[in-house]
Amino acid sequence: MRFLVLGGTSFLSKHIAHDAVARGHEVVCAARGQSGSVPEGARLLVLDRDEPGAIKALAGERFDAVVDVATGALGWVLDAIEVLADRARHWTFVSSINAYTDTATRGQTTDAAVCEPVLDTKHYDLTELTVERYGGTKVASENAVRERLGNDRTFVVRPGIISGPGDQMDRFGYWTARFARGGQTVVPDTPHQPIQHIDVRDLAAWIVTAAEQRLTGTYDAVGPVLELGPALREAAELVGAADLQLVPIAPETLLEAGINPWGGPRSLPLWLPVEKHGLVAHDPTAALRAGLEPRSLADTVHSALLDEHARGLDRPRAAGLTSVEEQALLEHTGISAFDRR
Ligand SMILES: NC(=O)c1ccc[n+]([C@@H]2O[C@H](COP(=O)([O-])OP(=O)(O)OC[C@H]3O[C@@H](n4cnc5c(N)ncnc54)[C@H](OP(=O)(O)O)[C@@H]3O)[C@@H](O)[C@H]2O)c1
Repeated sequence: MRFLVLGGTSFLSKHIAHDAVARGHEVVCAARGQSGSVPEGARLLVLDRDEPGAIKALAGERFDAVVDVATGALGWVLDAIEVLADRARHWTFVSSINAYTDTATRGQTTDAAVCEPVLDTKHYDLTELTVERYGGTKVASENAVRERLGNDRTFVVRPGIISGPGDQMDRFGYWTARFARGGQTVVPDTPHQPIQHIDVRDLAAWIVTAAEQRLTGTYDAVGPVLELGPALREAAELVGAADLQLVPIAPETLLEAGINPWGGPRSLPLWLPVEKHGLVAHDPTAALRAGLEPRSLADTVHSALLDEHARGLDRPRAAGLTSVEEQALLEHTGISAFDRR
């Protein structure tokens, strides 16, 4: 088969290109080449989607499968379908769990209400994207693909947390790297909080299989719902340094100290306030029945750790606490030593 990956130089899209090449498909990646290289065996077509008309470099080409990971850029999606819709047999659009309006209710399926579409075609980068704009642009992008390609060619996946090697958001990887560094390690004292992730390799494999099998429809691309406390403990036991001590701190104390939930700077990644628990507790049944095969947490943790070692355990990160911030938090709360739990 002939694949076009709009991306292919970084995390999910690169894994998709890698998986497709490994299965013997011809793979063209269209990107600027700024985030990295394409996998060996794939061809990079250098193209900047912010440049008007750039996508026309692909005019006249035919593809069995197109995969688009556009974020915050309805204009990119519209341009791509204008040029390629009549020449593609199958189209995957990677959306997000943020497409849904209700972040509190657990067990939601794709029947749940989605955000109002944001029809602004300007490209917003991650620093400019509010959650509402992110979700609304994903919904508008999904709708545009469905309308132009039709339900018989459109596959939409809505992932939550994507974990595994190469993660640029650092939400999952923060924990493996932090546990590996050892010492007193602050964790949120929210043991029963739900959490859900999908390993990037499993999501990539499913997207390639979906294209091969011409699978269509809209799916929450999520793994089983776990509890945050036991999940973090399992990861700590798998990778933790000998002197690792987990120090659970109550959410109210963390908020008082200006620690952010979920991700980004000065955060405890994956921790979420109660009103957001629904975001990480969607019903995975439909995706699992349609062929998504999540690997074990242990496998993801091991691979993420290898990746973290390769990139440097002490590197600056997009999410989490720095050592200085964590130490200040421990001193602020008067905590000196805790039993590992
Ligand atoms: N990461 C998560 O946990 C998560 C969670 C939920 C949903 N998602 C969704 O999953 C998808 C994949 O996310 P990801 O972080 O893994 O992204 P990704 O696959 O790394 O994709 C980004 C790609 O876009 C390309 N790109 C960026 N600017 C471009 C431009 N101006 N012109 C052409 N290409 C450009 C980049 O290549 P160059 O920079 O080389 O051009 C890169 O290959 C996204 O749709 C995201 O919204 C991610």
